[in-house]
Amino acid sequence: MSTSIFELNGKVAMVTGSSKGLGEQAALALAGVGAEVAVCGRDTADIDRVVERLKSMGGKAAGFVLDVTSRDKVKSCVDDILNHFGRVDILLNNAGTNYRVPVLEYPEEEWDRVIDTNLKGYYLVAQAVAPQMIERGYGKVINMSSILGRIGLPNQLAYASSKGGVEQMTKIMAIEWAQKGVRVNAIAPTYFETEMVKQIRGDKERLNFINTRTPMGRWGKLEEIDGVVIFLASAASDFITGQSIAIDGGWTIS
Ligand SMILES: NC(=O)c1ccc[n+]([C@@H]2O[C@H](COP(=O)([O-])OP(=O)(O)OC[C@H]3O[C@@H](n4cnc5c(N)ncnc54)[C@H](OP(=O)(O)O)[C@@H]3O)[C@@H](O)[C@H]2O)c1
Repeated sequence: MSTSIFELNGKVAMVTGSSKGLGEQAALALAGVGAEVAVCGRDTADIDRVVERLKSMGGKAAGFVLDVTSRDKVKSCVDDILNHFGRVDILLNNAGTNYRVPVLEYPEEEWDRVIDTNLKGYYLVAQAVAPQMIERGYGKVINMSSILGRIGLPNQLAYASSKGGVEQMTKIMAIEWAQKGVRVNAIAPTYFETEMVKQIRGDKERLNFINTRTPMGRWGKLEEIDGVVIFLASAASDFITGQSIAIDGGWTIS
């Protein structure tokens, strides 16, 4: 077997929320195997920083401001990306947010913000990007889920609901596009050290709980997301669709 089945030379990847965290790491991984990357986020300074990082490793990249919660903004951003790169072969729906309080205290505006970003945003972006994949008969959509799409934890009302939705959304898109060459899969990570979860890092009790619940006894390291992203984006996974791959040190099997 040749490792060329993992190469993405000539492919264009759009990564939402790639201005930091797991999205930035995924953008680096995709560029590392040859993909041209559309870096998307809301903060231009962060976007520029990531684009420069990708270019400095010899990659082709361009930055685009995108708020995934607005259909109009999604459409105009995807148009800009298509004008710039000519195509999107790989979509990583990754932009995400959280708000943690108990159910009885959960504010409606935070529920809406989390669901609009983590769930509605994925559908809006996929709906804007998939038609040109379907037209060419080939594409890869990867939805960033979470172990919280599978298990429950307190204070995660909207987040876990959104990620449960992402798991189901992945199956529906996969079924509808299976005969059209577009594969749709999800990644379900445990805790990785990013801005989204940095407050938990300082909470000894919570840190202990997470490590104890995880058979491998630790959080993920950012670069440990690379393999699954490259696998699902590349020809190596061409007969896989509708799946969700946990990257969690064994948490969800125990
Ligand atoms: N870190 C973990 O432990 C963990 C575990 C499981 C799953 N995940 C999932 O992994 C994904 C990335 O999370 P992360 O930990 O890397 O978080 P992060 O460091 O906070 O990054 C979140 C990214 O999403 C973008 N974003 C937020 N709201 C947006 C919106 N309305 N429109 C467009 N972009 C938006 C942010 O861009 P701006 O700041 O520029 O707006 C940023 O680039 C999320 O889907 C998250 O649920 C993370």
